[in-house]
Amino acid sequence: MKILITGGCGFIGTNLIDLLLRSGEHELVILDNLSTGNIRYVLDVLKSNGWCRLSDLNFIKGDIRNSSTVKEACKGVNAVVHLAAHAGVTPSVEDPFFDANVNVMGTLNLLNASRNVGVQKFIFASSNAPLGNQSPPMNESKAPGPLSPYGASKLSGEGYCSAFFGSYGLQTVVLRFSNAYGPLSLHKNSVVSKFIKDGLSLGRLTIYGDGTQTRDFIHAEDLARAITGILGSDSDEIYGETFHLGTGTETKIIDLANIMRELLGNGVEIVFEPERAGEIKRNYSDITKARRMLGFNPEVEIKEGTTRVFDWFMKQSREKVINAVAVSGSE
Ligand SMILES: NC(=O)c1ccc[n+]([C@@H]2O[C@H](COP(=O)([O-])OP(=O)(O)OC[C@H]3O[C@@H](n4cnc5c(N)ncnc54)[C@H](O)[C@@H]3O)[C@@H](O)[C@H]2O)c1
Repeated sequence: MKILITGGCGFIGTNLIDLLLRSGEHELVILDNLSTGNIRYVLDVLKSNGWCRLSDLNFIKGDIRNSSTVKEACKGVNAVVHLAAHAGVTPSVEDPFFDANVNVMGTLNLLNASRNVGVQKFIFASSNAPLGNQSPPMNESKAPGPLSPYGASKLSGEGYCSAFFGSYGLQTVVLRFSNAYGPLSLHKNSVVSKFIKDGLSLGRLTIYGDGTQTRDFIHAEDLARAITGILGSDSDEIYGETFHLGTGTETKIIDLANIMRELLGNGVEIVFEPERAGEIKRNYSDITKARRMLGFNPEVEIKEGTTRVFDWFMKQSREKVINAVAVSGSE
């Protein structure tokens, strides 16, 4: 199968490439403008899978907003995994027009090129953000009510996936990821990555509020497994559908901070700052539908997963970790 991965140099993209290369069955094309992703991640993943050069892979440095680039990238492709995005709530609040250009027009470009060249499957990375402030668990039957431009642009992408399935028969699948964590995330501002960077550089972990707020932390490897499962699936029932992917369990931020402090060493302190406006108190996903229809079964539990991420960070140079600037937001 020839698979186009947009945003393949980002956090989830490189974790996915790692898993796909291990299977050794697919031809991969990566489209990324390197705005937040890093070609080094891809090189590391290639090396760990016994590949030597970037030219072993079909890498296109380009922008999903450019329709001719996208058309070219889609040629001869059987499946698209669309991960490229202006990711994160805060950057979208700062610049909603840019967010919409990338997440709405970029997604529309890809869907249109996919239908024109006869792509069979189209997997779209969405988030819980389209749902907004709801009482958890988040599931597919709740009516969306995004609170951020990011939530609105992801909801629009979901809408276009549904429309391209309905109007043109493109076999789309929408995946709403909960809070993802994992290796290859030096550039991310999401909490696991931030705790490790802050612990190493500042010696403290900052919690906004009292730490009883909850999130559903899913390891990138579990997301990658779900995506490869869909790529290999021959079930027709999953097309035009939306699925929540998480672990189905809530973790309090204070519990996560304590796990991270244990990994970082006891000298690291936890400090509390006032709660941030607009932050949702509890958030976790109901994954019943994904379990039933996709056979999704998250395997990495939080202690093992955070230990693996921490080990990955420790393999990077300390200087690189301390100086890492977060360029990709937290969802
Ligand atoms: N990480 C999470 O917790 C999480 C949660 C929910 C949803 N998601 C979604 O999953 C996807 C991947 O997220 P991630 O965490 O890997 O983010 P990331 O920022 O690490 O990766 C995004 C990639 O897209 C590329 N990109 C951005 N704009 C582009 C453009 N205009 N043209 C081409 N490439 C472009 C970036 O360079 C980067 O490599 C995104 O769609 C995101 O919205 C992520």
